[in-house]
Formats: sequence, structure tokens, C-alpha cells
Amino acid sequence: MSLNRDDMLRELELLPVWKQRELPPPGREAAVPEVRVPVSEEPRPAPEPVLQQVAEVAPVPDATEVIAEVEVEIEAEVKAEPAVFAENRLEQIRHLDWQALQACVQSCVACELSVSRTQTVFGVGDPQAEWLFVGEAPGVEEDRKGEPFVGQAGKLLDNMLAAIKLKRGQNTYIANIMKCRPPENRDPHRKEIVQCEPFLERQVALMQPKLILALGRVASQTLLQTDATVAELRGKLHSYNGVPVIVTYHPAYLLRNLADKAKAWEDLCFARRTMQELQTAGEA
Ligand code: URA
Repeated sequence: MSLNRDDMLRELELLPVWKQRELPPPGREAAVPEVRVPVSEEPRPAPEPVLQQVAEVAPVPDATEVIAEVEVEIEAEVKAEPAVFAENRLEQIRHLDWQALQACVQSCVACELSVSRTQTVFGVGDPQAEWLFVGEAPGVEEDRKGEPFVGQAGKLLDNMLAAIKLKRGQNTYIANIMKCRPPENRDPHRKEIVQCEPFLERQVALMQPKLILALGRVASQTLLQTDATVAELRGKLHSYNGVPVIVTYHPAYLLRNLADKAKAWEDLCFARRTMQELQTAGEA
């Protein structure tokens, strides 16, 4: 069966979209070449005023709905961040200078602690210091002030420093494993430590302190990658990325366990002796 032109176009689903222009009068074919024009692109009647059309076709969305949608999208992106972090961020952190590292910490959203923090707590003191003291995580007062060890435990730490003739800010630097406060002062979760520890690692690499004092269980276990207790770890010289480490009790623990203050005193004396040896070895 033979199809005529219209039947064929209909079979191909090209009708009624396409139509042939009317043929020009005989003798004028060359002046007006044949052009196939989609019907839908033929001149349209003049459009109605735009504002009127928008009002009729699409009512202006409620601004609060739009903001809520954007917030949901941002939240989803923030949740997606840790995966990106795992792939690229470790490498990036390893190349940051001190200032860039501070900025990176300030803007970090790699774990959920970023949602509840008031501010990050990078550290305090002299970045060229020989002594580095490492605690666990900011508490409520540190979160408010942006400085580590400013509460009750901080006062005891200052006294411990004074016991070995040191002073906050003078040849000392104080930092934490965690840069954000865990809510309700709970222990930091493993996945939060994994995200945050690279910051301290970079701080240590840039500072190159002579000696690190790990204060308490979380700092000691994280730096030394062990499950051993403070009681098991103290009294020995350990190492973190080539930097000597001495373990002692956390000042907050000592506030509750006065009997162990004598052991902390022994640890401080051990640390002072070790530092003298390291300084002497450095001069030789
Ligand atoms: N405890 C810590 O481990 N770090 C602080 O900064 C404050 C309390």
C-alpha cells in the first residue's frame, strides 16, 4: 500500500508539527527558497505583560518555604562533607601553614560537633614552644572563650606548669585532640577524633616541639594509638611522629582524685628531667 505525503508524516509523528510553506507563484521559486518552519515557531501573538502572566501562571512562592528548602539542601551537603574529607582533606591539611590551618579549623564542618559549638578552640601559646601540652576537648568555658583549659581544670594545669617553672604562653603551647566541644562534656566519639586529629598532627609537624605531655586517657590513647590506660602508660618515654611523649593524668581527673596528684608530680619531674636531656642533646 502506498502512502501519500501527509500519511507518511503522520506515521513519523511529524504532523501536525511540520507543514510546508505555500508554494510561491510560478516564476518566483528562485527568489524565495523553500524553508520548513516548525509550526510552533511561527510568529506568535504579542505576549501579555510579563508580570500579569507570572501572577496568573505561577504564584510567587512563600519566602519562608524557599528558605526552608535551601536549608535542607545545605544540611544535606554538610552531612555529605565527611566523605569528601576522607578523600582530600588529609592531604590538604598536611600542606597548610599555621594561619591556613587555623582558618581551616575555624570553618570545619567535618563532624556534628560543628553544629553545637560556639566556636572552635585551636590552642594557646607560643607556636615555637618546646613544650606542648595536649588535653582532650574544650569544655563549656573553653567553648565560650575560644581558649583551652580556662576552667577549673585549667587553673590546676597552670599550677602544674608553675611546678616545673613554666607559664602559659611562655615556651609552652596548649592544645586539645578535639577542636570543638562535645555536648554535655561527653567523651568524643571515635569518628569525631578521626576527623579532628589531623589538625593536631599538623600543629605538631609545624611546631616541632621538643616534648609533648599527654594529659589524660583520650589524649594519650589517641596520640599513642593504644587502648592502654594512663596508669600503664605513665613513667615511660613514648613517641608521636618522632616527638617524645610523656603521659600523665588529666587535671580534671586530678581534681576528683587527689591521691593521684603525687603521681602527677612524679610525671612532671620526669618530664622536666627529660626536657633537660633533650635540650642538652640538642646543643651538642
Ligand atoms: N579539658 C580538656 O581536655 N581541655 C580543655 O581545653 C578543657 C578541659
